[in-house]
Amino acid sequence: MKILVATEKPFAKVAIDGIREVAEKAGMELALLEKYTQKEQLLEAVADADALIVRSDIVDAEVLDAAAKLKIVVRAGAGFDNLDLPACTAHNVVAMNTPGQNSNAVAELALGLMVYAVRNFYNGTSGTELAGKTLGIHAFGNVGRRVARIAKGFGMNVIAYDAYCPDEVMVAEGVTPVHSVDELYSQAQVISLHIPATPETKQSINHDLLAKMPKGALLVNTARKEVIHEDGLIQLMQERTDFRYITDIMPASDIKMKELFEGRYFSTPKKMGAQTAEANINAGIAAANQIVDYLKNGNERFRLNK
Ligand code: 3PG
Repeated sequence: MKILVATEKPFAKVAIDGIREVAEKAGMELALLEKYTQKEQLLEAVADADALIVRSDIVDAEVLDAAAKLKIVVRAGAGFDNLDLPACTAHNVVAMNTPGQNSNAVAELALGLMVYAVRNFYNGTSGTELAGKTLGIHAFGNVGRRVARIAKGFGMNVIAYDAYCPDEVMVAEGVTPVHSVDELYSQAQVISLHIPATPETKQSINHDLLAKMPKGALLVNTARKEVIHEDGLIQLMQERTDFRYITDIMPASDIKMKELFEGRYFSTPKKMGAQTAEANINAGIAAANQIVDYLKNGNERFRLNK
């Protein structure tokens, strides 16, 4: 049995060592396709793979067509918008993710980006503090919860909205639940996005919603670029010179936004929320273990395509 790790954005070496150990202990072979630049390289590499570990790499019908022996694909991470689940089902491939394994890294980055923004990108001028400000967490999943804990350490007042999370879960974390996005955005000076990219959420963070944020607003995106309505955001930032946007996922209009909004817009060159040795080890090894447990014991606990 062969496990292929195909990562355009590679794992730390220690994570690969850990994945290899899991594979070898189970009597499986490990193959690596890292930093690939062409889809053809992936199509070639999957040809003889029984199992596939990816990060944000796209696994669509074309990839699955090229992977005649594939039984399981695991997205080493949380968001699985890069996996075509109906196509996986049609190809008899089990699809899984590794929820929670890289959340702490993303949460730490979200707070890091907030500090960077309110201290004027460390340009030497006088900024503001996070303490005493209201942080609105949009979606209270694994990352949102960790962001809440760290933000409380900073002395922030934390509120959250999540249509699927009971109030008691938020209250137990010392977080005030609100019951609509309008309420969240109109009360929070800082919003941290933790929603997945789904047909419902795509472009849902739009001009009218963002316009509700109070003066000195800061929007932090460590989730997905697709959830932002980019034209609406640009329009709002043109109307409101107090509005700042800081993102770990470079938008399509990155160059234009850099020109238009110098000093209140920042994007990382590559999504780096989960780029820590710890997150790579946690998510990568979890993925390898899930593959072995599925192939040897039929464990489908983290299966996404039913
Ligand atoms: C996730 O959904 O797990 C995060 O966005 C991290 O994605 P990455 O593995 O592409 O860094």
